[in-house]
Amino acid sequence: MAARDGHVHVLPLHVANKIAAGEVVERPASVVKELVENSVDAGATNIKVSIAQGGRKLVSVRDDGCGMTKDDALLSLERQATSKILDVDDIENIDTLGFRGEAIPSIASVSRFSLVTRRHDADEGTQIVVNAGELVETSTAGCPPGTLVEVRDLFCNVPARRKFLRSFATEEGRVKGIFTVHALAHPGIGFSLVVDGRELYRLAPATSLADRLLDIYGADFVESLIPLPPPSDAQRNAVRVSGYIEKPNLSMPTRRDQYVFVNGRPATAPSIAYAVREAYPHRQGDIKPALFLFIELPANQVDVNVHPTKREVRFRDNIALKRAITEAIEGALGLRPTASNVAASEMATSETTGTNRTNGTDDTDETKIPHSPTPQLSPTPPTPSLPHHHSNSRTRADPN
Ligand SMILES: Nc1ncnc2c1ncn2[C@@H]1O[C@H](COP(=O)(O)OP(=O)(O)O)[C@@H](O)[C@H]1O
Ligand SMILES: [Mg+2]
Repeated sequence: MAARDGHVHVLPLHVANKIAAGEVVERPASVVKELVENSVDAGATNIKVSIAQGGRKLVSVRDDGCGMTKDDALLSLERQATSKILDVDDIENIDTLGFRGEAIPSIASVSRFSLVTRRHDADEGTQIVVNAGELVETSTAGCPPGTLVEVRDLFCNVPARRKFLRSFATEEGRVKGIFTVHALAHPGIGFSLVVDGRELYRLAPATSLADRLLDIYGADFVESLIPLPPPSDAQRNAVRVSGYIEKPNLSMPTRRDQYVFVNGRPATAPSIAYAVREAYPHRQGDIKPALFLFIELPANQVDVNVHPTKREVRFRDNIALKRAITEAIEGALGLRPTASNVAASEMATSETTGTNRTNGTDDTDETKIPHSPTPQLSPTPPTPSLPHHHSNSRTRADPN
Protein backbone atom coordinates (compact mmCIF):
# COMPACT_ATOMS: atom_id res chain seq x y z
CA MET A 1 0.00 0.00 0.00
CA ALA A 2 1.40 3.39 -0.94
CA ALA A 3 2.24 5.59 2.00
CA ARG A 4 1.06 9.11 1.27
CA ASP A 5 1.91 10.72 4.56
CA GLY A 6 3.58 13.68 2.88
CA HIS A 7 7.09 12.68 3.91
CA VAL A 8 9.83 12.71 1.32
CA HIS A 9 11.84 9.53 0.79
CA VAL A 10 14.36 8.31 -1.75
CA LEU A 11 12.96 5.60 -3.98
CA PRO A 12 14.38 2.12 -3.54
CA LEU A 13 16.78 1.17 -6.30
CA HIS A 14 14.55 -1.40 -7.95
CA VAL A 15 11.78 1.16 -8.20
CA ALA A 16 14.15 3.74 -9.67
CA ASN A 17 15.35 1.21 -12.24
CA LYS A 18 11.85 0.33 -13.24
CA ILE A 19 11.00 3.98 -13.70
CA ALA A 20 14.13 4.52 -15.78
CA ALA A 21 13.15 1.50 -17.83
CA GLY A 22 9.99 3.38 -18.71
CA GLU A 23 12.15 5.93 -20.48
CA VAL A 24 14.86 3.77 -21.97
CA VAL A 25 12.97 0.60 -22.82
CA GLU A 26 9.81 1.11 -24.74
CA ARG A 27 9.71 -2.06 -26.79
CA PRO A 28 11.90 -4.94 -27.99
CA ALA A 29 13.51 -2.69 -30.59
CA SER A 30 14.77 -0.38 -27.82
CA VAL A 31 16.41 -3.37 -26.17
CA VAL A 32 18.08 -4.24 -29.47
CA LYS A 33 19.27 -0.65 -29.82
CA GLU A 34 20.80 -0.48 -26.36
CA LEU A 35 22.47 -3.88 -26.56
CA VAL A 36 23.84 -3.35 -30.05
CA GLU A 37 25.19 0.04 -29.03
CA ASN A 38 26.95 -1.58 -26.10
CA SER A 39 28.45 -4.17 -28.43
CA VAL A 40 29.67 -1.46 -30.79
CA ASP A 41 31.15 0.47 -27.88
CA ALA A 42 32.85 -2.75 -26.75
CA GLY A 43 34.73 -2.83 -30.05
CA ALA A 44 32.92 -5.84 -31.48
CA THR A 45 33.74 -6.96 -35.01
CA ASN A 46 30.74 -9.26 -35.19
CA ILE A 47 27.32 -8.78 -33.66
CA LYS A 48 24.54 -11.32 -33.82
CA VAL A 49 21.01 -10.27 -32.96
CA SER A 50 18.31 -12.89 -32.42
CA ILE A 51 14.69 -12.37 -31.56
CA ALA A 52 11.72 -14.62 -30.98
CA GLN A 53 8.09 -13.56 -31.25
CA GLY A 54 8.88 -10.01 -32.28
CA GLY A 55 11.38 -9.80 -29.44
CA ARG A 56 8.64 -10.12 -26.85
CA LYS A 57 9.75 -13.60 -25.94
CA LEU A 58 13.47 -13.14 -26.53
CA VAL A 59 15.99 -10.55 -27.60
CA SER A 60 19.56 -11.74 -27.60
CA VAL A 61 22.70 -9.97 -28.71
CA ARG A 62 26.03 -11.69 -28.91
CA ASP A 63 29.27 -9.88 -29.61
CA ASP A 64 32.98 -10.57 -29.75
CA GLY A 65 33.86 -7.27 -28.11
CA CYS A 66 36.09 -6.67 -25.10
CA GLY A 67 33.87 -8.51 -22.63
CA MET A 68 33.76 -7.82 -18.91
CA THR A 69 35.38 -9.09 -15.77
CA LYS A 70 33.08 -10.51 -13.14
CA ASP A 71 33.32 -7.31 -11.12
CA ASP A 72 32.56 -5.14 -14.10
CA ALA A 73 29.67 -7.35 -15.11
CA LEU A 74 28.14 -6.98 -11.65
CA LEU A 75 28.80 -3.28 -11.71
CA SER A 76 27.12 -2.89 -15.08
CA LEU A 77 23.85 -3.77 -13.35
CA GLU A 78 24.12 -0.75 -11.11
CA ARG A 79 22.44 2.44 -12.06
CA GLN A 80 24.75 5.06 -13.51
CA ALA A 81 27.55 2.55 -13.82
CA THR A 82 29.44 3.15 -17.03
CA SER A 83 32.95 2.64 -18.30
CA LYS A 84 32.54 5.37 -20.87
CA ILE A 85 32.77 8.67 -19.05
CA LEU A 86 34.35 9.75 -15.80
CA ASP A 87 33.47 13.37 -15.55
CA VAL A 88 30.89 15.83 -16.71
CA ASP A 89 33.38 17.34 -19.16
CA ASP A 90 33.50 14.04 -21.00
CA ILE A 91 29.92 14.53 -22.14
CA GLU A 92 31.16 17.41 -24.26
CA ASN A 93 33.41 15.10 -26.23
CA ILE A 94 31.52 11.88 -26.17
CA ASP A 95 32.66 9.33 -28.71
CA THR A 96 30.79 6.28 -27.48
CA LEU A 97 27.16 5.50 -28.16
CA GLY A 98 26.29 4.99 -24.50
CA PHE A 99 27.40 6.91 -21.43
CA ARG A 100 24.41 7.12 -19.12
CA GLY A 101 24.86 3.74 -17.51
CA GLU A 102 21.14 3.17 -17.56
CA ALA A 103 20.38 0.57 -20.15
CA ILE A 104 21.54 -2.64 -18.51
CA PRO A 105 19.91 -2.05 -15.10
CA SER A 106 16.76 -0.76 -16.76
CA ILE A 107 16.39 -3.74 -19.06
CA ALA A 108 17.22 -6.18 -16.29
CA SER A 109 14.56 -4.65 -14.08
CA VAL A 110 11.75 -5.45 -16.50
CA SER A 111 12.71 -8.83 -17.94
CA ARG A 112 14.32 -12.16 -17.27
CA PHE A 113 17.86 -11.15 -18.02
CA SER A 114 21.05 -13.07 -18.53
CA LEU A 115 24.53 -11.75 -19.17
CA VAL A 116 27.38 -14.06 -20.11
CA THR A 117 30.68 -12.36 -20.66
CA ARG A 118 34.38 -13.01 -20.86
CA ARG A 119 37.41 -10.83 -21.38
CA HIS A 120 39.72 -11.98 -24.11
CA ASP A 121 42.57 -12.41 -21.66
CA ALA A 122 40.49 -14.33 -19.10
CA ASP A 123 40.39 -18.11 -18.75
CA GLU A 124 36.75 -18.21 -17.93
CA GLY A 125 33.70 -16.03 -18.11
CA THR A 126 30.90 -14.94 -15.85
CA GLN A 127 27.19 -15.53 -16.04
CA ILE A 128 24.77 -13.27 -14.25
CA VAL A 129 21.06 -13.92 -14.13
CA VAL A 130 18.60 -11.28 -13.05
CA ASN A 131 14.90 -11.87 -12.74
CA ALA A 132 12.81 -8.71 -12.93
CA GLY A 133 15.47 -6.73 -11.13
CA GLU A 134 16.41 -9.44 -8.61
CA LEU A 135 19.90 -10.84 -8.93
CA VAL A 136 19.37 -14.60 -8.81
CA GLU A 137 22.66 -16.05 -9.92
CA THR A 138 26.33 -15.22 -10.43
CA SER A 139 28.50 -18.04 -11.64
CA THR A 140 31.57 -18.74 -13.70
CA ALA A 141 30.84 -19.81 -17.24
CA GLY A 142 32.70 -21.42 -20.06
CA CYS A 143 32.05 -19.12 -22.98
CA PRO A 144 33.80 -17.51 -25.91
CA PRO A 145 35.38 -14.07 -25.39
CA GLY A 146 32.85 -11.30 -25.71
CA THR A 147 29.38 -10.82 -24.36
CA LEU A 148 26.01 -12.47 -24.77
CA VAL A 149 22.97 -10.73 -23.37
CA GLU A 150 19.61 -12.48 -23.40
CA VAL A 151 16.45 -10.67 -22.53
CA ARG A 152 13.39 -12.86 -22.11
CA ASP A 153 9.77 -11.97 -21.48
CA LEU A 154 10.18 -8.24 -21.71
CA PHE A 155 7.86 -6.42 -19.28
CA CYS A 156 7.01 -9.68 -17.51
CA ASN A 157 6.54 -7.65 -14.35
CA VAL A 158 4.97 -4.58 -15.97
CA PRO A 159 1.66 -5.73 -17.42
CA ALA A 160 0.63 -2.18 -18.25
CA ARG A 161 3.64 -1.83 -20.51
CA ARG A 162 3.24 -5.21 -22.06
CA LYS A 163 -0.23 -4.25 -23.18
CA PHE A 164 1.22 -1.44 -25.22
CA LEU A 165 3.34 -3.77 -27.30
CA ARG A 166 2.02 -4.40 -30.76
CA SER A 167 1.72 -7.59 -32.76
CA PHE A 168 4.75 -9.80 -33.22
CA ALA A 169 4.97 -8.64 -36.83
CA THR A 170 4.97 -4.96 -35.89
CA GLU A 171 7.58 -5.37 -33.18
CA GLU A 172 9.65 -7.49 -35.54
CA GLY A 173 9.47 -4.73 -38.13
CA ARG A 174 10.80 -2.23 -35.62
CA VAL A 175 13.63 -4.54 -34.67
CA LYS A 176 14.56 -4.89 -38.34
CA GLY A 177 14.54 -1.11 -38.63
CA ILE A 178 16.90 -0.66 -35.69
CA PHE A 179 19.08 -3.47 -36.95
CA THR A 180 19.36 -1.81 -40.36
CA VAL A 181 20.23 1.56 -38.85
CA HIS A 182 23.12 0.09 -36.92
CA ALA A 183 24.29 -2.08 -39.77
CA LEU A 184 24.46 1.06 -41.93
CA ALA A 185 26.19 3.07 -39.24
CA HIS A 186 28.97 0.50 -38.92
CA PRO A 187 29.78 -1.15 -42.25
CA GLY A 188 33.04 -2.42 -40.80
CA ILE A 189 31.22 -4.61 -38.29
CA GLY A 190 29.66 -7.91 -39.33
CA PHE A 191 25.97 -8.13 -38.36
CA SER A 192 23.47 -10.92 -38.45
CA LEU A 193 19.80 -11.00 -37.59
CA VAL A 194 17.96 -14.18 -36.73
CA VAL A 195 14.20 -14.02 -36.41
CA ASP A 196 12.38 -17.00 -34.91
CA GLY A 197 15.28 -19.25 -35.81
CA ARG A 198 15.58 -17.99 -39.39
CA GLU A 199 18.57 -15.95 -40.45
CA LEU A 200 17.24 -12.86 -42.22
CA TYR A 201 20.50 -11.05 -42.65
CA ARG A 202 24.09 -12.03 -42.57
CA LEU A 203 26.17 -8.99 -43.35
CA ALA A 204 29.87 -9.63 -43.65
CA PRO A 205 32.15 -6.91 -42.36
CA ALA A 206 32.18 -4.61 -45.39
CA THR A 207 34.97 -2.42 -46.59
CA SER A 208 32.65 0.44 -47.46
CA LEU A 209 29.20 1.85 -47.02
CA ALA A 210 28.55 1.06 -50.68
CA ASP A 211 29.14 -2.63 -50.06
CA ARG A 212 26.95 -2.59 -46.97
CA LEU A 213 24.16 -0.92 -48.94
CA LEU A 214 24.52 -3.53 -51.63
CA ASP A 215 24.31 -6.34 -49.11
CA ILE A 216 21.23 -4.93 -47.45
CA TYR A 217 19.28 -3.59 -50.40
CA GLY A 218 20.59 -5.29 -53.50
CA ALA A 219 21.95 -3.92 -56.74
CA ASP A 220 18.75 -2.43 -58.19
CA PHE A 221 18.24 -0.08 -55.33
CA VAL A 222 21.90 0.82 -55.10
CA GLU A 223 21.79 1.75 -58.80
CA SER A 224 19.33 4.50 -57.94
CA LEU A 225 21.77 6.18 -55.58
CA ILE A 226 24.33 8.89 -56.21
CA PRO A 227 27.35 9.32 -53.95
CA LEU A 228 27.74 12.66 -52.27
CA PRO A 229 30.96 14.31 -53.40
CA PRO A 230 33.96 14.55 -51.11
CA PRO A 231 33.83 17.63 -48.92
CA SER A 232 35.49 20.78 -50.21
CA ASP A 233 38.64 22.13 -48.62
CA ALA A 234 36.66 24.77 -46.80
CA GLN A 235 34.78 22.07 -44.93
CA ARG A 236 37.73 19.96 -44.04
CA ASN A 237 37.89 21.16 -40.48
CA ALA A 238 34.26 21.92 -39.94
CA VAL A 239 31.23 19.92 -40.97
CA ARG A 240 31.91 17.04 -43.33
CA VAL A 241 29.11 15.31 -45.14
CA SER A 242 29.23 12.08 -47.09
CA GLY A 243 26.93 9.28 -48.13
CA TYR A 244 24.36 8.65 -50.87
CA ILE A 245 21.18 10.22 -52.13
CA GLU A 246 18.53 8.90 -54.50
CA LYS A 247 18.55 10.21 -58.05
CA PRO A 248 15.80 12.76 -58.41
CA ASN A 249 14.65 12.10 -61.96
CA LEU A 250 13.10 8.70 -61.57
CA SER A 251 9.77 8.31 -63.29
CA MET A 252 8.13 6.97 -60.17
CA PRO A 253 8.08 9.14 -57.09
CA THR A 254 9.37 7.02 -54.28
CA ARG A 255 9.16 7.46 -50.58
CA ARG A 256 12.12 5.98 -48.90
CA ASP A 257 13.67 5.99 -45.54
CA GLN A 258 16.23 8.57 -44.76
CA TYR A 259 19.11 7.66 -42.54
CA VAL A 260 21.22 10.30 -40.91
CA PHE A 261 24.28 9.64 -38.78
CA VAL A 262 26.14 12.23 -36.82
CA ASN A 263 29.64 11.14 -35.85
CA GLY A 264 28.56 7.57 -36.42
CA ARG A 265 25.49 7.92 -34.25
CA PRO A 266 22.02 7.52 -35.76
CA ALA A 267 20.46 10.93 -35.42
CA THR A 268 17.68 13.25 -36.36
CA ALA A 269 17.54 17.01 -36.17
CA PRO A 270 15.02 19.45 -37.57
CA SER A 271 17.86 21.45 -39.10
CA ILE A 272 19.05 18.42 -41.06
CA ALA A 273 15.61 17.56 -42.38
CA TYR A 274 15.14 21.16 -43.43
CA ALA A 275 18.47 21.42 -45.19
CA VAL A 276 17.82 18.23 -47.13
CA ARG A 277 14.37 19.33 -48.22
CA GLU A 278 15.72 22.64 -49.40
CA ALA A 279 18.61 21.20 -51.34
CA TYR A 280 16.65 18.48 -53.12
CA PRO A 281 14.82 19.55 -56.28
CA HIS A 282 11.11 20.03 -55.66
CA ARG A 283 9.32 17.95 -58.19
CA GLN A 284 6.18 15.89 -58.29
CA GLY A 285 5.12 17.25 -54.97
CA ASP A 286 7.21 16.63 -51.96
CA ILE A 287 9.31 13.64 -52.81
CA LYS A 288 11.35 12.26 -50.02
CA PRO A 289 14.48 10.79 -51.53
CA ALA A 290 16.26 7.81 -50.08
CA LEU A 291 19.13 9.27 -48.17
CA PHE A 292 22.12 7.95 -46.32
CA LEU A 293 23.76 10.97 -44.82
CA PHE A 294 26.89 10.79 -42.71
CA ILE A 295 27.80 13.99 -40.92
CA GLU A 296 31.13 14.30 -39.19
CA LEU A 297 32.09 17.23 -37.04
CA PRO A 298 34.10 17.87 -33.89
CA ALA A 299 32.32 16.25 -30.95
CA ASN A 300 32.08 19.53 -29.11
CA GLN A 301 30.05 20.99 -31.97
CA VAL A 302 27.11 18.69 -31.39
CA ASP A 303 24.98 17.93 -28.36
CA VAL A 304 23.86 14.32 -28.27
CA ASN A 305 22.65 14.57 -24.71
CA VAL A 306 19.21 15.90 -25.55
CA HIS A 307 17.08 12.90 -24.62
CA PRO A 308 17.86 9.41 -23.27
CA THR A 309 16.61 7.55 -26.31
CA LYS A 310 15.44 9.99 -28.93
CA ARG A 311 17.87 10.36 -31.75
CA GLU A 312 17.59 14.09 -31.78
CA VAL A 313 20.82 16.02 -31.64
CA ARG A 314 21.57 19.75 -31.55
CA PHE A 315 24.26 21.57 -33.44
CA ARG A 316 26.23 24.58 -32.37
CA ASP A 317 26.47 25.96 -35.87
CA ASN A 318 23.35 25.27 -37.91
CA ILE A 319 24.52 27.56 -40.69
CA ALA A 320 27.70 25.58 -41.32
CA LEU A 321 25.68 22.39 -41.12
CA LYS A 322 23.17 23.53 -43.69
CA ARG A 323 25.88 24.81 -45.99
CA ALA A 324 27.66 21.49 -45.92
CA ILE A 325 24.50 19.49 -46.59
CA THR A 326 23.40 21.79 -49.39
CA GLU A 327 26.80 21.70 -51.00
CA ALA A 328 26.96 17.93 -50.83
CA ILE A 329 23.49 17.26 -52.19
CA GLU A 330 23.64 19.88 -54.92
CA GLY A 331 27.11 18.68 -55.84
CA ALA A 332 25.89 15.10 -56.11
CA LEU A 333 22.96 16.10 -58.29
CA GLY A 334 25.12 18.26 -60.55
CA LEU A 335 23.38 21.42 -59.46
CA ARG A 336 26.50 23.35 -58.57
CA PRO A 337 29.08 22.73 -61.24
CA THR A 338 31.13 25.93 -61.01
CA ALA A 339 32.97 27.69 -58.24
CA SER A 340 30.99 30.91 -58.74
CA ASN A 341 27.75 29.01 -58.40
CA VAL A 342 29.03 27.61 -55.20
CA ALA A 343 29.86 31.03 -53.82
CA ALA A 344 26.55 32.60 -54.86
CA SER A 345 24.52 29.76 -53.55
CA GLU A 346 26.44 29.73 -50.32
CA MET A 347 25.49 33.31 -49.74
CA ALA A 348 21.86 32.48 -50.35
CA THR A 349 22.16 29.56 -48.05
CA SER A 350 23.53 31.60 -45.19
CA GLU A 351 20.78 34.18 -45.59
CA THR A 352 18.12 31.56 -45.58
CA THR A 353 19.52 29.82 -42.60
CA GLY A 354 19.84 33.10 -40.79
CA THR A 355 16.13 33.66 -41.24
CA ASN A 356 15.45 30.13 -40.19
CA ARG A 357 17.34 30.71 -37.03
CA THR A 358 15.21 33.63 -36.01
CA ASN A 359 12.27 31.29 -36.38
CA GLY A 360 13.82 28.99 -33.86
CA THR A 361 14.20 25.37 -34.73
CA ASP A 362 10.68 25.04 -36.06
CA ASP A 363 11.27 23.87 -39.58
CA THR A 364 7.80 22.54 -40.15
CA ASP A 365 6.22 25.80 -41.08
CA GLU A 366 7.75 26.35 -44.46
CA THR A 367 5.68 29.42 -45.18
CA LYS A 368 7.79 31.39 -42.74
CA ILE A 369 11.00 30.46 -44.41
CA PRO A 370 11.96 32.06 -47.69
CA HIS A 371 13.19 29.40 -50.05
CA SER A 372 16.66 29.86 -51.27
CA PRO A 373 16.78 30.36 -55.02
CA THR A 374 16.20 26.76 -55.93
CA PRO A 375 18.80 25.67 -58.43
CA GLN A 376 17.13 24.12 -61.43
CA LEU A 377 18.02 20.71 -62.62
CA SER A 378 19.58 20.95 -66.00
CA PRO A 379 17.61 18.98 -68.60
CA THR A 380 20.22 16.28 -68.66
CA PRO A 381 21.89 16.47 -65.33
CA PRO A 382 25.23 14.83 -65.02
CA THR A 383 24.39 11.87 -62.86
CA PRO A 384 27.54 10.41 -61.49
CA SER A 385 26.22 7.05 -60.49
CA LEU A 386 27.56 4.60 -58.06
CA PRO A 387 30.32 2.59 -59.61
CA HIS A 388 29.00 -0.78 -60.64
CA HIS A 389 29.47 -3.42 -58.10
CA HIS A 390 30.30 -6.94 -58.82
CA SER A 391 30.69 -9.38 -56.07
CA ASN A 392 34.34 -9.66 -56.90
CA SER A 393 35.11 -5.95 -56.82
CA ARG A 394 34.96 -4.86 -53.26
CA THR A 395 37.81 -2.47 -53.29
CA ARG A 396 36.03 0.81 -53.78
CA ALA A 397 37.14 3.52 -51.43
CA ASP A 398 34.81 4.19 -48.54
CA PRO A 399 32.94 7.43 -49.25
CA ASN A 400 33.34 8.28 -45.59
N1 LIG B 1 28.37 -5.91 -24.73
C1 LIG B 1 29.20 -5.37 -23.81
N2 LIG B 1 30.53 -5.61 -23.83
C2 LIG B 1 31.37 -5.06 -22.91
N3 LIG B 1 30.94 -4.24 -21.92
C3 LIG B 1 29.63 -3.97 -21.83
C4 LIG B 1 28.69 -4.50 -22.77
N4 LIG B 1 27.46 -4.06 -22.41
C5 LIG B 1 27.63 -3.28 -21.34
N5 LIG B 1 28.93 -3.20 -20.97
C6 LIG B 1 29.50 -2.45 -19.84
O1 LIG B 1 28.45 -2.12 -18.97
C7 LIG B 1 28.37 -0.70 -18.80
C8 LIG B 1 26.93 -0.30 -18.61
O2 LIG B 1 26.20 -0.44 -19.81
P1 LIG B 1 24.91 0.45 -20.04
O3 LIG B 1 23.97 0.24 -18.89
O4 LIG B 1 24.38 0.24 -21.39
O5 LIG B 1 25.47 1.92 -19.88
P2 LIG B 1 26.34 2.79 -20.89
O6 LIG B 1 26.36 2.11 -22.23
O7 LIG B 1 25.59 4.08 -20.94
O8 LIG B 1 27.69 2.92 -20.27
C9 LIG B 1 29.04 -0.12 -20.02
O9 LIG B 1 29.58 1.15 -19.74
C10 LIG B 1 30.13 -1.14 -20.32
O10 LIG B 1 31.26 -0.91 -19.53
MG1 LIG C 1 24.73 1.34 -23.19
